[in-house]
Amino acid sequence: MAEKKEKFYLTTPIYYTNGLPHIGHTYTTVVADAVRRYKKMRGYDVVMTTGTDEHGVNVERAAKNAGIPESEFVARMADAWRALWDELGLTADEFVRTTDLGHVRTVQWLFRLCKENGYVYKGHYTGQYCIYDNAFVTDAKPGDNCPDCGRPTETLTEENYFFKLSAFQKPLLDFYRKFPDFIQPESRRNEIISFVEGGLKDLSITRTTVRWGIPVPGEEPHVFYVWFDALTAYLSAVGGPEFEKRGMWPADLHLVGKDIIRFHSVYWPAFLMAAMLPLPKQVWAHGWFLMDAAKMSKSKGNVVLPRPIVSVLGMDALRYFLLREVVFGQDGNFSYDALVTRYNSDLANGLGNLASRTAALIEKNFESLVPKSGERKSQDDAVAKEAHDAIGEVLERYDKMEFARALEAIWGVIAAADKYLTTEQPWTLGDSEAERVRKATVLWTTAELLRIVTALAHPVLPESTAKVWALLGQETSVTAVELDGLRWGQLVPGTPLGKSHTLFPRIDKSEAVERIEAMANEELNPAAEPAAKPTASAHALGAAAATSPAAGPAGKIGIEDFTKVEMRVGQVKTAERIVGADKLLKLTVDIGSEIRQICAGIAQFYEPTSLIGRKVVVVTNLAPRKLRGVESNGMIVAASVGPDGRPVLAGFHEDVEVGARLK
Ligand code: MSP
Repeated sequence: MAEKKEKFYLTTPIYYTNGLPHIGHTYTTVVADAVRRYKKMRGYDVVMTTGTDEHGVNVERAAKNAGIPESEFVARMADAWRALWDELGLTADEFVRTTDLGHVRTVQWLFRLCKENGYVYKGHYTGQYCIYDNAFVTDAKPGDNCPDCGRPTETLTEENYFFKLSAFQKPLLDFYRKFPDFIQPESRRNEIISFVEGGLKDLSITRTTVRWGIPVPGEEPHVFYVWFDALTAYLSAVGGPEFEKRGMWPADLHLVGKDIIRFHSVYWPAFLMAAMLPLPKQVWAHGWFLMDAAKMSKSKGNVVLPRPIVSVLGMDALRYFLLREVVFGQDGNFSYDALVTRYNSDLANGLGNLASRTAALIEKNFESLVPKSGERKSQDDAVAKEAHDAIGEVLERYDKMEFARALEAIWGVIAAADKYLTTEQPWTLGDSEAERVRKATVLWTTAELLRIVTALAHPVLPESTAKVWALLGQETSVTAVELDGLRWGQLVPGTPLGKSHTLFPRIDKSEAVERIEAMANEELNPAAEPAAKPTASAHALGAAAATSPAAGPAGKIGIEDFTKVEMRVGQVKTAERIVGADKLLKLTVDIGSEIRQICAGIAQFYEPTSLIGRKVVVVTNLAPRKLRGVESNGMIVAASVGPDGRPVLAGFHEDVEVGARLK
């Protein structure tokens, strides 16, 4: 019988719904996704949770501005967050919303446990409150600004339920001492320990000044303070009161930004201690990505959005940059220039070049079959040893969340492989028996180096490594590789190579930056469309989600919404690939009344010539937009099939007239 896998439960913060993800949020989620993939490759049964934090004054205000009920506002924003994560390939196992009924029940249950155990009492509180951060500002006087966001605070007096945080000073300090790895990195741990040593004040955990929140049962108008509500989402995502059944709690890793470490390493364990529930194993705080040395924020107008980067350079490029550029735990500066430089040097010239060079040499010399290594020389063994040593080092670095160092070690092997090829020059060897054996040895060795780096880089570069894996003719998916079993020498001679793709086409820096910036501008300031006018509190996409015409209950739409989408039968006239965009085809499509230019993300699955004359379904009334700098005026409808979302074009079994409307 198969051994039961050890579990690993990790979380991202649950994100506020008054805006949509920028690079900062994307960073936390990318890290979580990389850890999730890595842990799976180490044989764990992994669950990753993300979600949306949907209560509080900010949402009340944003919904009011949008002129819709809060429930509808947050439903749209949650959909938009989820859709963006899906688009970016960041797939969590659980997406928890704080308006989910299961979550509401879990918060009420946790409160009851804390109260039954004597850690909750009723009192009054007057203080300065920051409505942007949803927190009272300790020690602030009237007129003071919030130290975190710099905006004015408001004086508030409320009847509250208080949580006896003061009772947990010693238990928390004992806990930090007993589990020195609980707070990471070390610098944050020291910061938190001195904060707790300085004394803990009781914490008000309910509000009467806020309407949009989870009600305290039998105590209306009290609703729960957003952090009591939000932190509990980690538990509700894996079963809430029935967490034992699912077997995932306690969390093994809470990934957070440094701004919210205190909530996670002081309040959260204290709530759980009060309820006598198991405590999480680790809280890891990363630094911020700064833009022009300042924290990104919509109000400063310096946000970097993920979608334009992904559309110009691909998701793997963004993931690589985020994890390679800064030491995890420290702040880093975001710059498009540095991003494209890394893309060209490490991805296009590094991994991409090694893969295409290796494949081309094997194709030319060994009819695309992995050759068999002959007698080995010392230089062959030297690179083999480098790869062997890298396996151990990379796993150790990943375990310590040292992503930049892990990638450095992997890229060290890529550099060694390049150097090996350049010194051995297999292309200069002839066809005598001895030279063929030598050529085979060098190429098998290079391909084996490529296989090792591909497996090791997979958690960070899921898309491109899957392609290299297929190129190396490996039958099982790279996601299924067990890193603990990865050894030098496992590449089987005679394996037929798969299809070669250009993984990372080289790109001109200024052109790439220009394209990214243009797309970002378009996303932040879309062409004025009444239904999508940005509100002050959400960037364009968020605002569009929040202000588009009313949806019915539970996200259902009425027929009048459906009829707003105009779909017609189109016929493809021309189809061509777009240089530098290996997923996109540029099509011209006859829709009856006119010929439209439309870009479709189907290039990896459809040969352009096979499409000419084909009848397709076109959404004809979408606002035109630019994809990779090419105008697209409409959208081709396709089913998204299988785990990779392979597009399959919608079509007809009977003859249909071009231009006919679908109803
Ligand atoms: N809703 C709370 C979290 C509740 S968790 C129980 C929240 N939401 S947030 O949307 O404002 O931020 C979520 C995460 O994004 C935080 O970890 C924060 O540090 C991170 N980032 C936001 N801007 C960032 C950067 N510029 N750089 C890196 N991460 C940053 O806080």
